[in-house]
Amino acid sequence: MINRPSSKLDSLASTTRASAFFISVVSLDSADLLFVSCVKIASISLCLFFLMISDIGLRSGWFIARVMMYMIILYQKYYYVIIQYFEVRLIVMKIKDIYQNYKLMPNLRLHMYRVAGVALVICDNISETVDRDSITAACLLHDMGNIIKFKLDLFPTFLEPEGRDYWQKVQNEYFEKYGKDEHDATIAIAREIGVNDKVMRLLKSIGFTQAKENYESPQFDRKIVAYSDMRVEPNGVVSLEDRLRDGRKRTRIHKPNSHDESLFEEMSFFLRKIEKQIFEKTSISPDDITDERISKYVSKLSDFELSVHKS
Ligand SMILES: [Fe+2]
Repeated sequence: MINRPSSKLDSLASTTRASAFFISVVSLDSADLLFVSCVKIASISLCLFFLMISDIGLRSGWFIARVMMYMIILYQKYYYVIIQYFEVRLIVMKIKDIYQNYKLMPNLRLHMYRVAGVALVICDNISETVDRDSITAACLLHDMGNIIKFKLDLFPTFLEPEGRDYWQKVQNEYFEKYGKDEHDATIAIAREIGVNDKVMRLLKSIGFTQAKENYESPQFDRKIVAYSDMRVEPNGVVSLEDRLRDGRKRTRIHKPNSHDESLFEEMSFFLRKIEKQIFEKTSISPDDITDERISKYVSKLSDFELSVHKS
C-alpha cells in the first residue's frame, strides 16, 4: 500500500530542498554550482520519491532522507577532490631536466642559477617573510626564452661544444614556436611547464622596465627577484651600478634604435631605491653578495625541484 505524503512531509521536503541548495551555494565555486545544484536537486527528488513510496513513518523517512543527503554531499565533495587529483596532477620536476628539455644554452643556465643564488642569499638574511621556493623558481625560469634575443656571433665561446649551427637550429625552433619576443616566450614556456600563479606573477615582475612598479609594491618577493637579476652579468655577480652600466651598453648593442635615456635613468633610479628597501631589511650589505657567497647555493640549484601542474 502506498502512503500519500502528508502536508507536513511536503513542507519538510521543501525545507530539505532549500537547505541542500543553500549548502551548494556556500560550499562550491560558482563554476561548479549549476552542475552540482542540479545533481543535488535530482538527489532530493529521489529521496522524496523514496519517502512517498515507502511504508516507513515520517520520523524514519526523514532520518533516511537526511542520511542520504549527507552521503550525496560527501560523495560530491570527494568526487571533486578525486577529479582534481586525476585531471590536474601536481608533479615535481628538477630544474636541470627542464633546462635539458628546452635545450637551454649553458651560459643561460648559469645566469639563472646565479640570479637564484643572489636571491637566496637575500632570502636567508632578510627579516621580511618571503616565499623562498617561489622566488627560487621564478629566478630559475626568468630567462627561459632568451635564446630568441641572442646574437649568436657576439659570444662565440658560449656556443661550444655544440657549435654555431646547432644553436642556430635551436634558435629557429624557438622563433617558430614562441615568436620573436623573448619575454612572451618565457611566459609561454612557464605556462607550458605548468608553474603556479605565484611563480607566474613573479616572472612577470622581472624586467628592467618593471622597476617603478616593483619599488611601489609592498611585496618583497618581487623586489628580490627583480633586483637579483640586476646583480648578475655574463661573467658573474657585480654591483648594481656596474650592472646598470653594462645594461646600458647591452641595450645599445641589442636594440641599436632605442635611445630612451630618460626611461633608462628613471628605471635605474627606482632600482637603486629597491636596493635600499631590500638592504634596510637585511643583516648584510649589497657588497656582501659575491660569487663566492652565492656558490654554495649555485652548486645545489640544478637539483631544485619545481612543483608544476600537469593536465
Ligand atoms: Fe636575467
